[in-house]
Amino acid sequence: MYHLKFIDEHGSFLIEQPENTSYLYFPLASETGLKSAVTPNLGGDAKIDQETFLLEPVSSEDLHNNRSARNFWLLKNGTDAYSVTGASADQENSQFTAMQDESRLTAGFMWQTLTRSSKIHKLTSTVTSFIPKDRNVEIMYITVQNQSEVTQEFTAYAAVPIYGRSADNIRDHRNVTSMLHRIRTDKNGVLVCPTMSFDEKGHRPNQHIYYVMGCTGDGSSPKSFYPTVEDFIGEGGTFTHPRAVYEQYPGYPASAAAAGKEAMGAFRFDPVSLAPKETADYIILIGMEDTESEILELFEKYNTAGKVQKAFSDTKSYWQNQVNVNFHTNESDFDHLMKWVCFQPFLRRLFGCSFLPHHDYGRGGRGWRDLWQDCLSLLLMDPESVGHMIALNYGGVRIDGTNATIIGSGDGHFIADRNGIARVWMDHALWPLMTTKLYIDQTGDADILNKQVSYFKDAQTMRGTDVDAMWNPEYGDRQRTAGNEIYTGSILEHLLIQQLTAFYETGDHNICRLRGADWNDALDMASEHGESVAFTCAYAGNLLNLAAMIRLLDSRSSTHMTELLEEITVLLENDTDAFDDISKKHKILSDYVSRCRHTISGRRVKFSLSALAVNLVQKADRLMERLRTQEWIEGPDGEGWFNSYYDDHGRAVEGFFGNHVRMMLTGQVFAIMSGTAEDGQIEKITRSADHYLYRRAIGGYRLNTDFHELKFDMGRMFGFAYGEKENGAVFSHMTVMYANALYHRGFVKEGWKALRTLADTALDFDTSHIYPGIPEYFRSDGRGMYHYLTGAASWFMLTMITEVFGVRGEAGDLILYPKLLACQFDADKTASISVPFAGKNFTVIYRNINCKDFGAYIIDSASCDGTELTVNEDSFVSISRKMLTALSDDAHTITVNLL
Ligand code: G1P
Repeated sequence: MYHLKFIDEHGSFLIEQPENTSYLYFPLASETGLKSAVTPNLGGDAKIDQETFLLEPVSSEDLHNNRSARNFWLLKNGTDAYSVTGASADQENSQFTAMQDESRLTAGFMWQTLTRSSKIHKLTSTVTSFIPKDRNVEIMYITVQNQSEVTQEFTAYAAVPIYGRSADNIRDHRNVTSMLHRIRTDKNGVLVCPTMSFDEKGHRPNQHIYYVMGCTGDGSSPKSFYPTVEDFIGEGGTFTHPRAVYEQYPGYPASAAAAGKEAMGAFRFDPVSLAPKETADYIILIGMEDTESEILELFEKYNTAGKVQKAFSDTKSYWQNQVNVNFHTNESDFDHLMKWVCFQPFLRRLFGCSFLPHHDYGRGGRGWRDLWQDCLSLLLMDPESVGHMIALNYGGVRIDGTNATIIGSGDGHFIADRNGIARVWMDHALWPLMTTKLYIDQTGDADILNKQVSYFKDAQTMRGTDVDAMWNPEYGDRQRTAGNEIYTGSILEHLLIQQLTAFYETGDHNICRLRGADWNDALDMASEHGESVAFTCAYAGNLLNLAAMIRLLDSRSSTHMTELLEEITVLLENDTDAFDDISKKHKILSDYVSRCRHTISGRRVKFSLSALAVNLVQKADRLMERLRTQEWIEGPDGEGWFNSYYDDHGRAVEGFFGNHVRMMLTGQVFAIMSGTAEDGQIEKITRSADHYLYRRAIGGYRLNTDFHELKFDMGRMFGFAYGEKENGAVFSHMTVMYANALYHRGFVKEGWKALRTLADTALDFDTSHIYPGIPEYFRSDGRGMYHYLTGAASWFMLTMITEVFGVRGEAGDLILYPKLLACQFDADKTASISVPFAGKNFTVIYRNINCKDFGAYIIDSASCDGTELTVNEDSFVSISRKMLTALSDDAHTITVNLL
């Protein structure tokens, strides 16, 4: 039963009886900090940050368990209570019976509307939830319509428990912190100002005022108030059977006060008589401000139905306009799904990696690799603004090539580690280069490599293996020279240090050491002898890409030289013997990091750009050659793939182990993406992956086969049940990177199979049980998990735009090199994409009159707004930056005819 359907061209969708599916949640947020999750029963929570939760923080299990949620009651004719959210004991009891309310949820970017019709109460209600883009207030707009033949009288009650404190207090003095609450009722609602933020490390006075305000659609105030949970539920009552409603407690007037108790944003309105089909409406505002006058101002802004409806339509169009990418293929559901995929990077920017019910970890902020990957989607939608952000982010790199791992509030603010543990993730140095490469491709701004940026400095030194006892906060968090100056180096220098230190930090098999973990955070128990072949491949690819970036810089440079920190010279020695000699490598690295222990010389040496490029290519080539043979696994039936890791006992983790096979996807992805795997090897890899990892029904390629072992010499992932998260789930991010790598190498059918299966499963609601979008992973029964906040969305977009539709930058020029399959074209033999490039908006239309696949078609002709474009080698179109700049700011149409 497929019961989720799209209802407009913006990806908005509808689903009937959403409460019959568990664990559904929907994100709402403003640009200014408020972040909410709402379930079909208006459970979920709302917060500004870890310290400032308006509603009680929830994890996924609370979604079906917790009734301490937003509610709105209607008491009919003084006797029958009905909850517009469905959260009453009676309505819950009638679920799955003939008397269940008919319910329907419609939603689009940052809004959700829940409609319920009650057969028992003969009424229809709607609740629309949204957060205006520039205000920290969650708005509930409620309507009720009398569906009976006779006039009915309704008394409405708003009921929102106000948690009003730090998430930490959920299990750290929950009761004590309720004693801090100072609660008062106002003409239009309930305000709670805790006296202090409770933190045993140092209590602080509190300014925040949490509130729930409300009025009728025409601005009338509530009649009486229930400012504490106890006032509202009554002795022995519950949130699904509040005695204040069922027994019509009189409540308190405006200007009452309460203190030291759990607070409740509950109040009652005057009864209304509704003739048949007549409607009444109500507005509820939930938020936090630092002064009462701001709350009053906000209330004035949204205190009539007209004002709320206007704000609602503004919110909708604001977010629709933000997603300025549009796909048109043969399948409209897929195109709609892509709308959500393109919206997800916005959610990740606002929520970080925390703050949705599955993401019940972290304290806000984003991790290093997530930060860089989230830039990818920004680069496709709004590239010009990203350059500055990239430059700031390089300030998180240490002079030894490691980096601060958390980005605090505001770009350029770094924290060494969330938990104060000295950890080095060996993949971290990889991502900045990938992002910077895309930036240069899309904008042509190679000059960014010359930008001067400082280095992060703290007590961690020698790549996290030692403590710099001389460092103290007075030194500051920027690297200094022996002369005590803050040192800055070019972004190119940062990149070189990052890639080269990774190159030299090898383990017993001359493969880069795993250290704290790599992309797979859950490979965290092999820090001594663990090695990551997967990311060694990736670094080899990075060395080649960096060489290409340097060549581009060289081609535009008048001096053909660059200045680098003198200490780096040792990393650039041309001693090719060292490439195969682990002890020599270690010596080089230790030489370098010891020179950079506390301060650095600050002296700079000139290097020729072309020589630098050659130097990197040599390293990459030798490395790839070795990887190709040393790590290749062959099976008895023609299988073949790369070993991805060595465990803490120094054993290769993949291959044939008695009667079971151990294969991991990660090694294959980076072997293919980097160019390490040769075409013949890729063929074998795809066959093996199809055989050992692919499960169509649950999203496609799993991260690994079942190892049937806890493997304490590898990481916590093996403690997870097989099929969960990093242990063998269909982990969207890795699957999408697999697709990206395959496309990149021309394996288009194979790449599409990976993307397509993910999309099909996400869209198959009865399997995935998620709203449209790409989840972090699909578990072994196909349920989509950790929805919305995943780097997979950026990579999906990136792959669809730059590989599948082939619309990408090359040193700032626009290249069109479509890798589409016949099945992706619609009935008119057309597939198209709208996407910004170089600050202009383009719609690129591909016509495939002979319905051919990539590989079979050539590009016959192309035009931009009717002007003929040159086709190169029958396969791609290139539009120079100069020509792009000359185009007007209007939208442009490029038509490409395939033959
Ligand atoms: C998440 C984390 C990411 C990590 C990955 C695998 O991925 O955010 O840092 O590399 O798990 O452990 P995401 O789904 O967000 O891309």
